[in-house]
Amino acid sequence: MVMAEGAGTGLYERVEHAARVIRARTKLEPRIALVLGSGLGGFADDFEDAVGIPYEEIPGFMRSTAEGHAGRLVIGKVNSVPVAAMQGRVHYYEGYSLEEVTFPIRTFKLLGVKTLILTNASGGINVQLNQGALMVISDHLNLMGDNPLRGRNDERFGPRFPDMTAVYSRDLQELVVEEANAIGVEVRRGIYGALSGPSYETPAEIHLLRNLGADAVGMSTVPEAIVARHMGVEVLGISCITNMAAGISDEPINHEEVMATGDRVRDTFAQLLRGVVSRVHSRVV
Ligand code: HPA
Repeated sequence: MVMAEGAGTGLYERVEHAARVIRARTKLEPRIALVLGSGLGGFADDFEDAVGIPYEEIPGFMRSTAEGHAGRLVIGKVNSVPVAAMQGRVHYYEGYSLEEVTFPIRTFKLLGVKTLILTNASGGINVQLNQGALMVISDHLNLMGDNPLRGRNDERFGPRFPDMTAVYSRDLQELVVEEANAIGVEVRRGIYGALSGPSYETPAEIHLLRNLGADAVGMSTVPEAIVARHMGVEVLGISCITNMAAGISDEPINHEEVMATGDRVRDTFAQLLRGVVSRVHSRVV
């Protein structure tokens, strides 16, 4: 096997290499990164001065196989603020390890990112969340049966036993609610439960999740949030309720519906994200 230039054996060195490859493609130095989930990638199409890098061209970034995930890193400007956005992510259910799933998040940190905005499509468990609603993630339940920090710890990234009492920044949650109120978009806060997928849940599993306190359920986000917190990156999570979870409504769930709802909220979602990016930027500088 031919080793890529600069690729070391350790995770840290491989992440440094990926960061170097990305830096060579843009002069922008984003301090805010976004992960755009199922059907939500369109936001990055409107960036100014954008450069799009297919994941295949970044060593260590995996190709997304899920429909609705373009598989491109887009670096550009939103309201003059430089940002990096993943148009599509890879998931545990695709067969990737959680180290592979979270590799881009580690890369963002070495690129100088301070704030990570994670978005996803999810099933609504709390009946106050209707199809198309936006939920600000206040906390999560990691029910994936794995943890991205399992294995050797590299102290250059963070501590062996990182604190998870406030994964999702309180300040950022409030900032989103303020922006949503300012533009007349309804948002609610809630707890996101993550399962590995890829099958959707049974009604009995949703019953269990509801009793555990979950307001929405999905198959992503949590590994990325854990890794970001491990490295001291501030996290914001926004979930688009694309369908009611199994048994909450009697309708069967399908990926087409998930995508169609993502498409329907596209403009509202983009407007909210634009405002949030501006507010985060003007707050940190
Ligand atoms: N369950 C799990 N993941 C999802 C769902 C769901 O109902 N909708 C979108 N992603």
